[in-house]
Amino acid sequence: MTRKILVTSALPYANGAIHLGHLVEYIQTDIWVRFQKMRGHACWYVCADDTHGTPVMLRAEKEGVTPEALIERVRSEHTRDFGGFLIGFDNYHSTHAPETRAFCDLFYQRLKAAGLIKARFIEQFYDPVKAMFLPDRFIKGECPKCGAADQYGDSCEACGAAYVPTELKNPCSVVSGVRPELRASEHYFFRLSDPRCETFLRAYTRQENGVLQPEAANKMREWLGEEGEHLLADWDISRDAPYFGFGIPDAPGKFFYVWLDAPIGYMGSFQNLCHREGLDFNAFWQPGSNAELYHFIGKDILYFHALFWPAELEAAGFRTPTKIFAHGFLTVDGLKMSKSRGTFITAESYLAEGLNPEWLRYYFAGKLSASMEDIDLNLDDFVARVNADLIGKYVNIASRAAGFIVKRFGGRLLAADAELPALRAIREAAPGIAERYENREFAKAMREIMALADGANQYVDREKPWELAKIPEKEAQLHAVCSNSLNLFYQLTALLKPVLPALSARVEAFLDVAPIAWDDVQRLLPAGHGIQPYAHLMTRIDPKQIAQLVAANRESLAPAAPIAAPAATDAGKAKTEGAAKTEDAPKPDVISIDDFDRMDLRVARVVDAARVEGAEKLIRLVLDIGEEKPRQVFAGIKSAYDPAALKGRLTVMVANLAPRKMKFGLSEGMVLAASGANDVAGGIYLISPDAGATPGMRVK
Ligand code: 2FM
Ligand code: ZN
Repeated sequence: MTRKILVTSALPYANGAIHLGHLVEYIQTDIWVRFQKMRGHACWYVCADDTHGTPVMLRAEKEGVTPEALIERVRSEHTRDFGGFLIGFDNYHSTHAPETRAFCDLFYQRLKAAGLIKARFIEQFYDPVKAMFLPDRFIKGECPKCGAADQYGDSCEACGAAYVPTELKNPCSVVSGVRPELRASEHYFFRLSDPRCETFLRAYTRQENGVLQPEAANKMREWLGEEGEHLLADWDISRDAPYFGFGIPDAPGKFFYVWLDAPIGYMGSFQNLCHREGLDFNAFWQPGSNAELYHFIGKDILYFHALFWPAELEAAGFRTPTKIFAHGFLTVDGLKMSKSRGTFITAESYLAEGLNPEWLRYYFAGKLSASMEDIDLNLDDFVARVNADLIGKYVNIASRAAGFIVKRFGGRLLAADAELPALRAIREAAPGIAERYENREFAKAMREIMALADGANQYVDREKPWELAKIPEKEAQLHAVCSNSLNLFYQLTALLKPVLPALSARVEAFLDVAPIAWDDVQRLLPAGHGIQPYAHLMTRIDPKQIAQLVAANRESLAPAAPIAAPAATDAGKAKTEGAAKTEDAPKPDVISIDDFDRMDLRVARVVDAARVEGAEKLIRLVLDIGEEKPRQVFAGIKSAYDPAALKGRLTVMVANLAPRKMKFGLSEGMVLAASGANDVAGGIYLISPDAGATPGMRVK
């Protein structure tokens, strides 16, 4: 039976480059889609750029272009990169498109008619210099839980706490550097807390339904809580001007939040495809449709896809997704991708360095499973695995047989021996491998395929065509062995084709066969079939190429651009995208005034000072900086000061330094002192403000 299948990958933001982290998902989806197409199913793969929101608006402003011009340029970069990695979208659209706008309006009308939209005033941080409300990720301050400095408004990277921006201590706007103020404005909410939504979501996301992976279904249970707990909050779907997005039809100055229109962009892109291909949109999106709908996503955006999106679809009278497939994140050599280490590798640089995209496709396939676990790109293993498997095991079979067929037998094959164990093994394993593909167990599929390739190589090694070629009376045997070998190669190509589409196309040309379908794995090339001369199919990876790639991606020592805040996220589900933060950026030579402003220097009065048992250099200071509770700071000033003489005096402390756990207790800041190169010989001199300063005054 031919299935009707619609597949999506998450829409990448239009303000950053595609990198290898993104590619995990697009390669995973593309392999799955290619497999479905090879099976003869009517499978459509759509995507688009996710164009709206504050980061795009501010980046365009910084570049001195309109948001429309920016998203157009980024879209062409994205399509170039995806094309380079052989991602075979049937349509790559933009959310900033009439189709998506029309669907947004329709959703809004229908949700409103169902009583699921409500407006209410909320207070949010507002940047008075920039005259705009600030998304969570454009506010930084000290974590309300652990005090770590320089944390985003939604979550702390030091302690992992999630919070709302108003909880941050000493908040500051990432855009202008000023302290934001609270302002009220009316927002529109999707009433996710409505019992209809909750009842629907409980049933929809039950593990037995199979819509979600087991880990994702568990997460849902956590989010939904027990029956009667009512944990779901209404979802804020509007943003105030200035905002780059679609205006809300009956609400001047209000825009749909980017996460409202992003998944609707899946429909917009598909609608655009339907128009072009003459497909029936409703046949895919009406409730009760017999088409299947799959969303491939990263685990960080599960909340949007498993809660908001199905609830919206259901409430607006559309069908809901058949399954949501979440994957884990990519690490490189076991660590988070890093610009300074050169492992934040862009798709563009990979291709520009002349690396073959199918190396990466194969390597990722060899790591991917149906789970949400993170996958690691180990650069040494990448070289070893690709060279050993693709060149050493797979391509090798063809290169060892093809020359003899062309030179000695006029390019014609003999009928293969259908009962050859290596050929039979492939035929018999194929249905199981198909199941692996279907279930996204690509790593298992690759292992099984390589075991079959081992079988094929053992056959060639046993028969030794290069030796047969030296013995005139073994001519017929040589012909048979090489014909069998090329049949093995043909069938292995069928199994690998979803992963290696370009290589497969070259194989099809060399073997002179029609595009290989999945069922061809059960077929043998007929007697007398002619092949083309063998042309080199794939080169080995040279480890030097990887070293160059890493060097090309290593960030220069230039200070980071000011608008590097990652795109807005909800409820602390931290997300690194295009402009991902680097955890170990090198120190710039100069700092901006904004950098300086991030330091919170305060006048402090020494309330108490005492020696620390067992510490050679430390004095424990208790400092009043105008807060409710004085701070404890351990200072290395014992060589220069008698604790008793310090009591009552004023000094200056860094109040927003991340607290440090020491053997003797928590140190909650640092006092400022001048010192020579050698503290003891050169002396240590605590800084004092002039008379009149009082505890808590800011030093700027
Ligand atoms: O997290 C992201 O990168 C989003 N741009 C994904 C959007 S997916 C969908 F909902 F459109
Ligand atoms: Zn924290």
